[in-house]
Amino acid sequence: AELVFSGVQPTGNLHLGNYLGAVKRFVEMQERDAQCLYCVVDLHAITLWQDPEALKGQIREVTAAFLAAGIDPKRSIVFNQSQVPQHTELTWIFNCVARLGWLNRMTQFKDKAGKDRENASIGLYDYPVLMAADILAYRATHVPVGEDQKQHLELTRDIAQKFNNDFAGSILAHGHGEGFFPLTEPLIGGPAARVMSLRDGSKKMSKSDASDNSRINLKDDADTIAQKIRRAKTDPDALPSEVEGLKGRPEADNLVGIFAALRGISRDEVLRDFGGAQFSTFKPALVELAVATLAPIGAEMQRLVADPGHIDAVLADGSERAEAIAAPTLDAVKDIVGFVRRG
Ligand code: AQP
Repeated sequence: AELVFSGVQPTGNLHLGNYLGAVKRFVEMQERDAQCLYCVVDLHAITLWQDPEALKGQIREVTAAFLAAGIDPKRSIVFNQSQVPQHTELTWIFNCVARLGWLNRMTQFKDKAGKDRENASIGLYDYPVLMAADILAYRATHVPVGEDQKQHLELTRDIAQKFNNDFAGSILAHGHGEGFFPLTEPLIGGPAARVMSLRDGSKKMSKSDASDNSRINLKDDADTIAQKIRRAKTDPDALPSEVEGLKGRPEADNLVGIFAALRGISRDEVLRDFGGAQFSTFKPALVELAVATLAPIGAEMQRLVADPGHIDAVLADGSERAEAIAAPTLDAVKDIVGFVRRG
C-alpha cells in the first residue's frame, strides 16, 4: 500500500517555496487517500544551533502551517520527530550501513557547512542518514519534497538497498520478504519544485536568505505579499507565448512557475493567457492570486498558534500513532541485525 512521509524543519519563516514545493503537495497526497505522515523535523533543526525558547514556537508554527494549509490531523498523522524515539534508534543502525564516501558527496552539507567545515556539527553531516531513518522507520513508499532534497532521497534508497543486501539471509530467516525496506520514490515535480528567490532568479528561495524581500513568508500580510511581488526582479521583455521562451529568463520563469503552482495549472496554460503581456499586467494578476491563496493560510496560522495547548495535543496524538507504526519496524530491525531483545 502507498505510505507517504515528509517533513519540514522548524527553523524559522516558512515561505512560498516550502508551501508550493512541499506542504501544498502534502495536502494533495492526503486527498488521494494515501496514509500520510507529516513530521515537524525538530531533530534536524538542531543540526544548526537554535534558541531553545524560539524553537518551541517554531515547532508549533510549522504544525499550525500544516493544519492551516489543509492537512487534517485525523486523516493524516501530524507529529514532531523528537517525540518518536525510533527515528534516532534507526539512525544509529543506518550510520553503520551508510558509507563515508556516500555522505561526502552530499551537496547540502557542503553548502550549509560553508568554508569552516571543521566547525560544522556531526549532526549536520549525519542529517541525510537521519532523514533516511525518518522515511524508512515507516517503510514509506513515497516522499513529496522540493528538488533540493533529491540527492538525500537517493541516499535513502542506497541505505535501504544496502541494508536489504547486507542482511538478506537474516531478513528471510526472520520471516520477512526480500526487500524489507522499500526503495522509496521521491515525488518531485510540478511547476514549483524549485521556487527561486524574488531578488535573484539563480538562487533558491530560502529561509536563511538575509533579504526578507527575497521570499514570501506564509505569515506575510496581504500588503507585504503585494509589495514583494511588485518589487520582484524581472526583465524588460513581455512574457513569451510558449515555455521555450522562458529559457535564459530565470526571473520570468520563476514568476510564471509560481502562478502556475498557485493555480494548479502548467506553465503552458499560464502563458496561453498571459503570452505577450507585460509584467505590469502579469504582476497584479499574480498579486491577486497569491494574496487570495496565502492570506487566509497566514491568518489561520495566527489563530492556531494562539492556542498552543491545542497544537501540542495534535502533536502528542500524532506522535503516539506514528510510534505505533515505527515500533514494530524497529523491533524487526533489531531482530534482523542480531540484537537480543527484552521480549
Ligand atoms: N525554494 C524551494 N522551492 C521548492 N521547495 C522548497 N523547499 C525548500 N525550499 C524550497 C522544500 O520545503 C520542504 C521543507 O524544507 P526544509 O524545512 O527541510 O528546509 P530547507 O530545504 O532547508 O528550506 P530552506 O528554506 O531552503 O531553508 P534554508 O535557508 O535553511 O536552506 C522540503 O521538501 C524542501 O525540499
